[in-house]
Amino acid sequence: MKHLLSIDDLTVDDIETLFGTAAEMHDVQRRSVKKLPALRGRTVINLFFEDSTRTRSSFEIAGKWLSADTINISAKGSSASKGESLRDTVLTVTAMGVDALVVRHAASGAAEQISNWVDVAVINAGDGMHEHPTQALLDAYTLQRQLGDLAGRHVVIVGDLTHSRVFRSNVKLLRKLGAEVTVVAPPTLMPSGIDAWSKEAGFAASWDLDEVLPSADAVMMLRVQRERMQGGFFPTPREYTVGYGLTRGRLSLLKPDTPICHPGPMNRGLEIAPEAADAASSKVLDQVSSGVAVRMSVLYHLLAGEEVA
Ligand code: NCD
Repeated sequence: MKHLLSIDDLTVDDIETLFGTAAEMHDVQRRSVKKLPALRGRTVINLFFEDSTRTRSSFEIAGKWLSADTINISAKGSSASKGESLRDTVLTVTAMGVDALVVRHAASGAAEQISNWVDVAVINAGDGMHEHPTQALLDAYTLQRQLGDLAGRHVVIVGDLTHSRVFRSNVKLLRKLGAEVTVVAPPTLMPSGIDAWSKEAGFAASWDLDEVLPSADAVMMLRVQRERMQGGFFPTPREYTVGYGLTRGRLSLLKPDTPICHPGPMNRGLEIAPEAADAASSKVLDQVSSGVAVRMSVLYHLLAGEEVA
């Protein structure tokens, strides 16, 4: 495996290998001295053309704990804001002698395009409305630690599916691992083509959250991505919450201890109530700490010279 652009790049064996290494990396996270020498002398550049808090910082920490030199470049402070093309920016950065580019971009397919221009490892950290493979890996890793084998487990993914790369990567990964998946959204936020994709990939789509929640083994709430919306996808925020929010009232529909996930950033009070975000069964902060371990594992397998498969 040279790049990680999509969950399609991974076999079930690859995923298990990545999770096995992530578990070892997780142990490192608990030590007071968190450095491993594995990527000493390697340089990883985080090239972020879109905002990010946790993805960028967790890639940075992951690289540092593996002793790589990590550098952050964000579009606002780079020559991209002076009109430089994406290709020129990418070629300039790689000409400095880097080993991996971690890329976030608003255009779907950007990471794959970049991988055609350069000879270094490219990791997709979110491309438009397409994929966010390391987020899906850390979500599944978090759930597996809680639930064990995910085969046959029912994972319910709720929210702004149209604009969500997290949903697309998660459906692919969870189905590879044998989980049953139901996706729930209001009709206006249900992606076009979902009927064909759900039939082909073997998952269910619903508009009725209350009907689906009682059979969930895990719930994954997604952010309403207002920055990607042109026009109104729902009448008022209140109406969205009433129909599709994980409200205090809806918590009683869940089986006890059902893990609640959210990739962040959360719109508290819109798609998730504080009572759900802060519930004992909330995995939101576990997702963040697992994120570092999973990204350490991905960087290790891409850069330390060991093939995942
Ligand atoms: C997600 C993203 O950027 O795609 N967040 C993340 O990576 N933690 C989801 C989101 O922005 O809602």
